[in-house]
Amino acid sequence: MRGSQDCINIGLLGCGTIGSGVYHLIQKNYSELTEAAGKPLKVKRILVKDPYEPRPFEVDREIMVTDPGQVISDESIDIFVEVMGGIQPALSLALDIISSGRHLVTANKEIIANHGRELMAKAAQTGSHVRFEAAVGGGIPLIRPLEESLGGDNILKVMGIVNGTTNYILSKMSSEGSAYDQALAEAQRLGFAESDPTADVEGFDAASKLAILCSILFKRGGTPREIYREGILSVRPEDLENARELGFVVKLLAIAVRENDLISARVHPTMIPDSHPLASVNGNFNAIFVVGESVGELMFYGQGAGSLPTATAVLGDVVNVARNLGRPPISTRTYWLRDASIKPIGDTVTRFYMVLRVIDKPGVLARIAGVFGDNNVSLESVVQKGIGDSAQIILITHEVIESNFMKAKNGLEKLDVVLEIPSVIRVESGSESKSQNA
Ligand code: HSE
Repeated sequence: MRGSQDCINIGLLGCGTIGSGVYHLIQKNYSELTEAAGKPLKVKRILVKDPYEPRPFEVDREIMVTDPGQVISDESIDIFVEVMGGIQPALSLALDIISSGRHLVTANKEIIANHGRELMAKAAQTGSHVRFEAAVGGGIPLIRPLEESLGGDNILKVMGIVNGTTNYILSKMSSEGSAYDQALAEAQRLGFAESDPTADVEGFDAASKLAILCSILFKRGGTPREIYREGILSVRPEDLENARELGFVVKLLAIAVRENDLISARVHPTMIPDSHPLASVNGNFNAIFVVGESVGELMFYGQGAGSLPTATAVLGDVVNVARNLGRPPISTRTYWLRDASIKPIGDTVTRFYMVLRVIDKPGVLARIAGVFGDNNVSLESVVQKGIGDSAQIILITHEVIESNFMKAKNGLEKLDVVLEIPSVIRVESGSESKSQNA
């Protein structure tokens, strides 16, 4: 029977890195969790692909099953914890759980980012609790503070380092001058970069997380497909060196800004001043910098992945649902059904860093400046370094409309004196706060 008197029964869907961490913490922190949840938590059944696969923590194989039906149809389960990852079969199982009015805690960013609308619509009909703290920022308490603690403010902007793999690679390239391949291999050896790193290094993982943050913060449903995305593959060690000389660092940032009825949402390598709070977030750490109209600037920092940090976030959700069993969810999140109007990337106003390799002869700089001027792009700083017969020009623009900058870039590529434009990186300023703290 559900809602049993003496304990809260958990159905664990998946038992890999996160799932075995969840199981481990339920045993290890039994008394703390009992006090927090109001009753002991008991893992009743665990869905796995293979009971014998190696896991970071020991798990009771007696309660493992390989048929999803054996977990889903267990009427005694109060809360389902989905930590399988990927879209299917996780999505079908989640819909099944929610459709029947049962409760779901998930760490799965892909189903929330891509199918949040469907899941929230169903949950609003059935009264299911759906929680997904671990889907963004791993162990960092983020979703609940943004949704509840900051529910009384207008959030203007979020800038996040939400992918630990790319932050580790960029930090390593920057601090040790490592090549990209070397830094990636080190991240793989340490176990936090996947053997196929595409989703991380090309920014897909960050775009999924940003889509979730946008929905929570701006009360609109968006999907990762609408978010402009660039990964870190084009960032060269020389750019990190140049950035340092200019007083910047380069981070893969997930940025979302509320601009009247539009949302500017983008993931790309970004130069930020070395004095910005995000600049000192190194290694595989995550940090999310938020600007609220009234609260001002906040930063959430911690482990964005890993077995026990992520399991902690999952258990926080389990405790929250356990304490609210029998009550309606705090938010039905019906706002997820409203469309987000995403601002086209070409209309974004930002600054740019650009490197040009040019022929070193009189008049070259004037021709380059002419192309920028013709496209309404104003330059903030220009540095020239001679390298044999050619020269390297490193420049930073003032704030420009992105489409104007791109027109200028096209124009520059056509100049016979420009040999190559090896790098273009967007630059964000350090002065974020528009809050009224009076
Ligand atoms: N692959 C992600 C990262 C962790 O490197 O941050 C899972 O979201």
